[in-house]
Amino acid sequence: MSSRGRAATKSSHDAATTTSAEADALVVFGITGDLARKMTFRSLYRLERRGLLPCPVIGVAAEDWSVERLREHAREAIGAAGEQIDHSVFARFAARLRYVSGDFGDQHTYERVAGALGDVRNPAFYLEIPPSLFPRVVDGLAHAELLSGGRRVMVEKPFGHDLVSAQALAAELHRHLDESQLYRIDHFLGKMGLEEILYLRFANTMLEPVWNRNFVGNVQITMAESVGAEGRGHFYDPVGALRDVVVNHLLQLLAAAAMEPPAGGDPDTLQASKLAVFRSMPAAKPDRYVRGQYDGYRAVDGVAPDTSTETYAALRLEIDNWRWAGVPFFIRTGKQLPVKLTEVRLVFKHPPRLQFIPAGRRRPEPSQIVFKIDPSTGIRIILDAHRADRQGPAEIELDMEFSKEGGEGATPYETLLHAVLVGDSSHFTRQDSVEECWRIVQPLLDAPPDAHQYPPGTWGPPEAERVTAGFGGWRKPWLGE
Ligand code: BG6
Repeated sequence: MSSRGRAATKSSHDAATTTSAEADALVVFGITGDLARKMTFRSLYRLERRGLLPCPVIGVAAEDWSVERLREHAREAIGAAGEQIDHSVFARFAARLRYVSGDFGDQHTYERVAGALGDVRNPAFYLEIPPSLFPRVVDGLAHAELLSGGRRVMVEKPFGHDLVSAQALAAELHRHLDESQLYRIDHFLGKMGLEEILYLRFANTMLEPVWNRNFVGNVQITMAESVGAEGRGHFYDPVGALRDVVVNHLLQLLAAAAMEPPAGGDPDTLQASKLAVFRSMPAAKPDRYVRGQYDGYRAVDGVAPDTSTETYAALRLEIDNWRWAGVPFFIRTGKQLPVKLTEVRLVFKHPPRLQFIPAGRRRPEPSQIVFKIDPSTGIRIILDAHRADRQGPAEIELDMEFSKEGGEGATPYETLLHAVLVGDSSHFTRQDSVEECWRIVQPLLDAPPDAHQYPPGTWGPPEAERVTAGFGGWRKPWLGE
């Protein structure tokens, strides 16, 4: 059976096997690692503060640490991540921590995990480890009889480095796990801004009727990062921008902007709406793809001196369905750009010539709607209007920052960890969508164009203008508040 077929079969089986019972322990493999230090402790601490962490947290790693050492490490990590530590909250959190030290290749480690779980009935597992270790750990858990009864396993990307390897990884995991047990993290699915796109689109009657090819000229998704690959060269160099953020995070943003309203709030129905978007997308074309590499990237520790890996990607995609046929979806992302910023921008079509304004006057610009995802969440509507200073018509911006309307929401990892604890898989990606996304970008992986150099602190190589030529170019992103 093809992998797509298998995912579909499993998914119909999912509804019956998904357990909504709350987890009564969280087991974190790789708790001494980088991701845990930067994200996990902080997010668990914040859940504790909100009264949403009801269970023990059992860390598993190779380091020969005591639980006291782990608690101290957790305190430092939470502080370093920028949290103000409340001592009573931290004391409650620290009391939940347990530690099992052991080699992931040794079955005794899993027996010790089982021992540490004691009479816990429904543990959730979080594999914060390289995907090459997933099969071994899942195997160990299965042999220790820790995966029965639909227990949940949360895994971190990358889910393969192309379509074939993504299928192979899934086949390994499916040996012991039903698809419904797998919670694949794409941390963009925990971002408040992404959820907001779907809500605003369908909760506002004035938006939905114009949200299609009759009114929208093009869609531009920008994810800019001011940081480079420093400190992560070993990880980043074999990956590059397309695999690191486009095939996952940015296609998820695209799906939120393009999908039909899900006919229900259950995870399978939500996933099906997204999958329909991906299935409607033809494979990407290498001649609509521009790659860039920032000057100095090759000197980063862990990066091959002659590497051609892209740190910048700009591309055009299409969605061949009734809502979107003919509307280009442009995506650009890069490291060492001037700012950190992520947005989704709909650029509407040009209005016809306005007969009632004198000939020779400036033509009105198309309206735009912008969803800002990072560094804060907001929405902007750009209209063409007269201004009070009588200088004539110009673009005006109607802005709303969510932080000023009730504050920023939970951090993405807070949302995702809570979701796995309560058994809500709607914020995670399903294998059939993962495979569709690889299918879409596969031609770009097979025939990558040359990478153009760009100076750090710029918006990438000038060649990227080619991608949006004929559509008014890349719009200037929403900078600052
Ligand atoms: C990760 C990528 O998935 O997302 C990183 O591996 C990238 O390269 C990061 O920097 C961006 O996440 P965020 O939440 O800071 O936008």
